[in-house]
Amino acid sequence: MSGTFPIGMLEDSSGSVLVVDDEAQIRGLLVALLKPQGYVVQTAASAEEAQERLKTLRPDVILLDLHLPGKSGQDVLAQLRADPVTRLLPIIMITGEATGEDRLRAIAGGVTDFVAKPFASEELLVRVKSLVQLKRFTDALEHAEHVIVALARTIDARDAYTAQHSERVSVYAGRLGAKIRLTGLELEAVKRGGLFHDIGKIAIRDAVLLKPSRLTPEEFAEIRKHPVVGRDLLSGMKTLAFALDVVHAHHERLDGSGYPDGLSGESIPLTARVTTIADIFDALTTARVYRAALTRAEALEIMTQEARRGWWDTRLLDTFRSVLEGLPEDVSRVTNALAVPP
Ligand SMILES: [Fe+2]
Ligand SMILES: [Fe+2]
Repeated sequence: MSGTFPIGMLEDSSGSVLVVDDEAQIRGLLVALLKPQGYVVQTAASAEEAQERLKTLRPDVILLDLHLPGKSGQDVLAQLRADPVTRLLPIIMITGEATGEDRLRAIAGGVTDFVAKPFASEELLVRVKSLVQLKRFTDALEHAEHVIVALARTIDARDAYTAQHSERVSVYAGRLGAKIRLTGLELEAVKRGGLFHDIGKIAIRDAVLLKPSRLTPEEFAEIRKHPVVGRDLLSGMKTLAFALDVVHAHHERLDGSGYPDGLSGESIPLTARVTTIADIFDALTTARVYRAALTRAEALEIMTQEARRGWWDTRLLDTFRSVLEGLPEDVSRVTNALAVPP
C-alpha cells in the first residue's frame, strides 16, 4: 500500500504548523516545543492575521485558539471548512476554560482535535505528529485526483473531436454554477465533476468510441455504461465523493428518458443538471466527424427545443444563455478562462 503514495512527500521535513493564539507566551511556548522537533512554525496573534497568512501559507496543521479578540477561532474554522482547498486541513483547537457547548460547536464546525490549556508537551507533540501524517495522506489523495484529471484529458484526446471537452465543460459548468449561487462543495462538484464526468469512457473500446458511422444498439449500450463505470471508478476516493453525482447523473433527462437510472425532475441532483447543460452545449458547439461545429445561437436553439420537449432544465438553460454573454465565442479560448475565477 505504501508504494501507492509518493514516499518522498511523506518523509521530508516533520511538517509545517500555524499557531494562532493571542497570548504571546503561548505562541512562544508552542514555537519552542515544535521547532526542535523539525517543524516549520508560523504564528498569528488574531483571526484576522491568521486569515491573512493563510492566503499564502499552506500549513499541514493549525493550532487554533478558541477565544481570540475580534473574530473568534470559530470564525476561522468556519472559513477554512467552507474553502475546498482547506476543508480537510487538520485543525487542533486550543481551549482554555471551554464550556461543553463551546466544544460541541467546535466539533460541529469541523475541528479535528482538541488540546486543553495548560497542555502536556508530550501529548501535544503526539497529536501534531499524527495529524501531519493524516494531512500527508490526504495530500497524496489529492495527488491521485490530479492523476485522474490527467486520465480524463487522455480520454478526451483519444478522439481529436473531443480534445479538451472536459475542461470546457468544467469552465461552463463552473460559470453556470456560480451564477445560480452554488457555493462550497456544490460549486466544486460542478467544476471537478465537469473535469472527469466522462472518465468512465476509459472502458469503451476505440472501435466504438471513435466509430464514425452509426452505432449498433449493442455499441450504444456500451457507451451508455460510462456514467456507472465512472462513478464506480471514483467511488473509492473519499476526497471526490462530493462530485460522484455529477459523474453518475450527467446523462439523465428531466422527463426520465435519460440514463443510467431514468431519473426525472428534481430527483436528478442540481449539480448534475448544471453539468449536463454544459456538456450538451459543448458537444453541439464542437465539430464531429459527421457535422461541423454549430454556432452558439444554433446550439442554444436546439437546446431550447429539447428543453421544451422536457429534456433539460429550462431555468438553467436561460441562466446559461446569460453566462455565455460573458465568455468569448471562440471556444478554444474558453479553456484559458479556466485560470480566471468566476
Ligand atoms: Fe458523458
Ligand atoms: Fe461529456
